[in-house]
Amino acid sequence: MHWAKMHSHARFNLATSGVGSFPLRELPVTIEQLEINGDSAYGYAPLQQAIANKCEVDPDCVVAAAGTSMANHLAMATLLDPGDEVLIEEPTYELLTSTLLYLGATIKRFARSEESGYALNAAEIRRVITPKTKLIVLTNLHNPSSVLAPESVLREVGDLARSVRAHVLVDEVYLDAAYTDRPRSSYYLGPEFVVTTSLTKVYGLSGLRCGWILAQPDLARAMWRVNDLFASIPSHPAELLSVVAFQNLDRIRERGRKIIEADRVLLNDFLDHQKGVSAPRTKFGTTAIVRLMDGVVEPFLARLRAEYETTLVPGRFFDLPNHFRIGMGVDTEMFSEGLKRIARALES
Ligand SMILES: Cc1ncc(COP(=O)(O)O)c(C=O)c1O
Repeated sequence: MHWAKMHSHARFNLATSGVGSFPLRELPVTIEQLEINGDSAYGYAPLQQAIANKCEVDPDCVVAAAGTSMANHLAMATLLDPGDEVLIEEPTYELLTSTLLYLGATIKRFARSEESGYALNAAEIRRVITPKTKLIVLTNLHNPSSVLAPESVLREVGDLARSVRAHVLVDEVYLDAAYTDRPRSSYYLGPEFVVTTSLTKVYGLSGLRCGWILAQPDLARAMWRVNDLFASIPSHPAELLSVVAFQNLDRIRERGRKIIEADRVLLNDFLDHQKGVSAPRTKFGTTAIVRLMDGVVEPFLARLRAEYETTLVPGRFFDLPNHFRIGMGVDTEMFSEGLKRIARALES
């Protein structure tokens, strides 16, 4: 996160992970609809209802949070005590492991191997799960690969968790970028599932910090109380804007879809023609994790930035030092030029 904030910016920034910003002027909202303070002690009721409607759950299962980041933190802080055993996929989004470490969890990893195209494999979890396991953590779509986990495998993971009375935390911040076959949230697979997400990545609405957790009502109540220690009261103007965003969500999602799909066509063409890299092809998602076949990634990325004004995320943040991550969904012209520059850097 620190690297993303401080070092990712460039003229051709392909070090992104979400859709480009949705402009406020395209939301049908006027200043009269906004207010500074509101009635949002444990959730602003219209926003709770909007999230519940979208997710087809009862509002009692919804905990609003400041982005998926805070949603993950609240969920983990509520589900874990220091020393508890947690299984987390490898590779994954680095902030998930660092939050677990911050909370004092004992971390064990289960592989999503490059050879398997980063597939979620319940057998890998079975290999490391113990009666002491309290939580299994994964992302769906997977960050960094954007691979979608099939419901059948998620069910197997749920069965494993249930067998030791553990929970499964699924970070679904990218799931709404699965534009066809509309996969269901893991939340519907059983009470052991806890799901986190937000309007950040797929909708370009990061500034609203509209995130949430789906959890069984007793857990949800506990998470609200943990939130009293952190964000406590949310920004009410952001809550009001989020309600308007939910009323326009299909249109906002469609805007992102068009950019991502155009970018993916370019990415696939790039991968087809570049012998120096390899990556699993995915149907959905805003990121791809790419192996540099020859050479060392860090100097390559430094040269790409210095000579070609183009940035990519170093794979070391995912414990993949021979890789880099490419982000789609911001601006197709920029993406196209960025890919051309990567190609030139690879060739030179
Ligand atoms: C898997 C994952 N979860 C959470 C986040 C943070 O999401 P938010 O901006 O909603 O806090 C990211 C950001 O890159 C992410 O990749």
